[in-house]
Amino acid sequence: MRCQVAIIGGGPSGLLLSQLLHRKGIDTIVLERRSQEYVLSRIRAGVLEWGSVELLREAGVGQRMDAEGFAHDGTYLACRNRGFRIDFAERTGKQVMVYGQTEVTRDLYAARAAEDGKIITEAEGVTIHDAKSDAPHVTYMKDGREHRIDCDYIAGCDGFHGVSRKTIPDNVLKEYERVFPFGWLGVLSETPPVSHELIYAQNRRGFALCSMRNANLSRYYVQCPLTDKVEAWTDAAFWDELKRRIPEEAAETIITGPTLEKSIAPLRSFVAEPMRWGRLFLVGDAAHIVPPTGAKGLNLAFSDVHYLYHGLVQHYDGDDSGIDSYSERALARVWKSERFSWSMTNLLHNFPENTGFELHMQEAELDYLEGSVAAQTALAENYIGLPY
Ligand code: FAD
Ligand code: DHB
Repeated sequence: MRCQVAIIGGGPSGLLLSQLLHRKGIDTIVLERRSQEYVLSRIRAGVLEWGSVELLREAGVGQRMDAEGFAHDGTYLACRNRGFRIDFAERTGKQVMVYGQTEVTRDLYAARAAEDGKIITEAEGVTIHDAKSDAPHVTYMKDGREHRIDCDYIAGCDGFHGVSRKTIPDNVLKEYERVFPFGWLGVLSETPPVSHELIYAQNRRGFALCSMRNANLSRYYVQCPLTDKVEAWTDAAFWDELKRRIPEEAAETIITGPTLEKSIAPLRSFVAEPMRWGRLFLVGDAAHIVPPTGAKGLNLAFSDVHYLYHGLVQHYDGDDSGIDSYSERALARVWKSERFSWSMTNLLHNFPENTGFELHMQEAELDYLEGSVAAQTALAENYIGLPY
């Protein structure tokens, strides 16, 4: 088989890149290790920056998001039993869209299927060959035999544990990492959200976040030790802990119920440089991870897609400047989102090594944020998404 761009990974970034390129007449094949059902069973991010919203519309997959997503004008930060609001619309003129990653991915799979997009699921042993040459190819196993795809370029959209980044030699790739000493226990519950906007709560017992998927589906998180086992958290224990960390006013009105999903995710900051090696480009979680506190993971994957998509379109029009500057341009935005996610994580979490001093620093910063339009503007412009 042959295509112009072989895409490894059928998560949100691989599918969006495939869909955008297809609409410009550039043919792709997506190789996904898992089944489509498995990919769609993963509950992950919930907040889209406006740039992501516009990119999804440009890809022709915005209809359900526009009909069913919630455009939010602001968010609440809470500390010492009270919340205050950051008004994104007033500070920046922009909003964010609450629409789950699972739904984004479902829409992308549907769009690719409607346009006969080639997605090979359950592709095992994907291997990249000759990425530094002018004639790269990818091999994989499916139905008990080996297949080969020849291509012009390879997009490594295969997440943190994928093969793409590992293909780049150690003496080329530089990795930066910070692993946080706690995780997030997340639940999905078929209950109305406690608040019409998100609540990010700093608390001496640990961070908590109240989010949502729709009018009758809530997503809640509490910071937990990495040693916790998800099976040991009963629903009752989760609701109890959440209520102790959010302002009383919210705790008194929250509607609880059985949980549909419960999982623990570790928190990590990670960046690999460069994001290009020969004809291989790294995109999204394959190149970088942020702790989820700033709602940036999926959005950062989409900004990489934006740069690579435009670079490849330019390339097939005879101009290589976009692909040649891909790594540098993507990384400039990656590091700023890393900084924001790291600072939100530091501001809102209870670190095991924190003394009373660090707690006072967090509380003072939240006090300052509440009273300062300049500080609120800085937070808002990062949260709604820095320009591409
Ligand atoms: P992925 O979504 O990881 O997709 C990569 C795809 O490649 C997967 O489908 C995988 O099966 C496939 N793949 C992997 N290896 C191979 C291979 N060898 N061959 C073929 N295919 C392969 N972000 C937030 O903003 N908020 C959150 O609450 C949040 N929660 C998260 C919870 C978890 C458990 C995780 C892991 C991430 C979370 N994120 C969150 C981050 C966000 O979901 C990611 O940033 C986003 O999924 C990145 O998209 P991607 O397409 O780059 O990678
Ligand atoms: C969600 C996750 C986040 O990490 C975040 O910052 C906001 C919302 C969510 O899953 O809804």
